[in-house]
Amino acid sequence: MASSNELPRTMKALVVKSTSEPPTIETVPTPQATVGSAVVRVLAANVVSYMKNIYNGSRNYAFPTPIIPGTSAIARVATVGPDATKLQPGDLVFLDCVVRSRDDPSDVFLAAISEGGTPGSAKLMREVYRDWAYAEYCLAPESDPYLAHISALLVPYGGLKDIELQAGQTVIVAPATGPFGGAAVIVALAMGARVIAMGRNKDSLARLKKIVPSTDRVHTVPITGDMQADCAKLKKHGEIDAYFDIGPREAQGSTHIHSAILALRQGGRVSLMGGYLQDVPIPHRIIMRRNLRLYGKWMYERSDVADIFKLLESGMLKLGAEGGAELVGKFPLEQWREAWDAAAESALMGQSVLIKP
Ligand SMILES: NC(=O)c1ccc[n+]([C@@H]2O[C@H](COP(=O)([O-])OP(=O)(O)OC[C@H]3O[C@@H](n4cnc5c(N)ncnc54)[C@H](OP(=O)(O)O)[C@@H]3O)[C@@H](O)[C@H]2O)c1
Repeated sequence: MASSNELPRTMKALVVKSTSEPPTIETVPTPQATVGSAVVRVLAANVVSYMKNIYNGSRNYAFPTPIIPGTSAIARVATVGPDATKLQPGDLVFLDCVVRSRDDPSDVFLAAISEGGTPGSAKLMREVYRDWAYAEYCLAPESDPYLAHISALLVPYGGLKDIELQAGQTVIVAPATGPFGGAAVIVALAMGARVIAMGRNKDSLARLKKIVPSTDRVHTVPITGDMQADCAKLKKHGEIDAYFDIGPREAQGSTHIHSAILALRQGGRVSLMGGYLQDVPIPHRIIMRRNLRLYGKWMYERSDVADIFKLLESGMLKLGAEGGAELVGKFPLEQWREAWDAAAESALMGQSVLIKP
């Protein structure tokens, strides 16, 4: 593998100069590894369904411009900083889009998407790790070498771990038919749980039931808008230990939040990972009387990445078709627009789109 001075001086990258103009392909300087970082050659970078709404500004996420966009990716280490003792050029790695400060892990940001909520996270994004994966090379913080494309699975794992989901327990996942909701079903099954999947669309629920790896441990309950009736249908599946919420902003006001909380057993747990923009009313009296515990989660912890790999290595969690995943399209960097459109149109559980710079 190339040493630092063998890296090309320039590279091809997608550059967002401002949210009011489309990105362009540019030739830019190749990043250089410094103490605490590595430069990786990006092999395949993930595309999330709302990618175009991030970079046209309609999601209103805070990030500096100009910026090389992107999210999690699979890459090979090209060069490492002088203090690396484990990572080697040539290692196959998972480029995690969640970046944390070395000296204060609460300074955390979402690479090239959101600068996070602290002055430290904004500084780290703006001044050090601004550019990301839609380029031939990317500068990344050095961490342990990881091997796969697992970003969708990691997100729900963060929340499911918080609520201590255990083998044999029952968890409601709602809504379960989007990319992250579907991933939550797959991860909960891999953790040994039984899942009650909720969604408005009966066809999407039927598709989910068909592609999950453990059909006998998945039940579906449609969200009908009748909160009490949906709660009664949930309860028909026996004692329910936990509820994992991953509603999009569009589901603000959906009845599923109340139905699911009301269906929980005494001492049940709730993970709130949904992207609601407004406050969400909750059944306070039931939460108080039943000793329910509510956890919020943004993304996942660093240790969760290692846990997910253990689930993969043990065979409990599977990638590819066997694990309910479908690659919808692979695009070169120049076809970024087609990739973003394909991702927006393929927002069903398990579907993914990649950019190969
Ligand atoms: N906390 C975090 O760190 C984190 C990380 C990633 C994502 N998120 C949030 O998670 C959300 C969900 O992600 P996703 O990729 O699974 O799905 P998505 O593509 O954002 O949304 C589609 C899902 O939402 C459901 N839905 C849409 N409108 C609804 C409504 N009005 N009422 C009830 N359900 C509705 C759909 O179900 P139907 O089949 O009924 O249409 C489908 O399950 C994202 O929008 C994001 O805000 C949070």
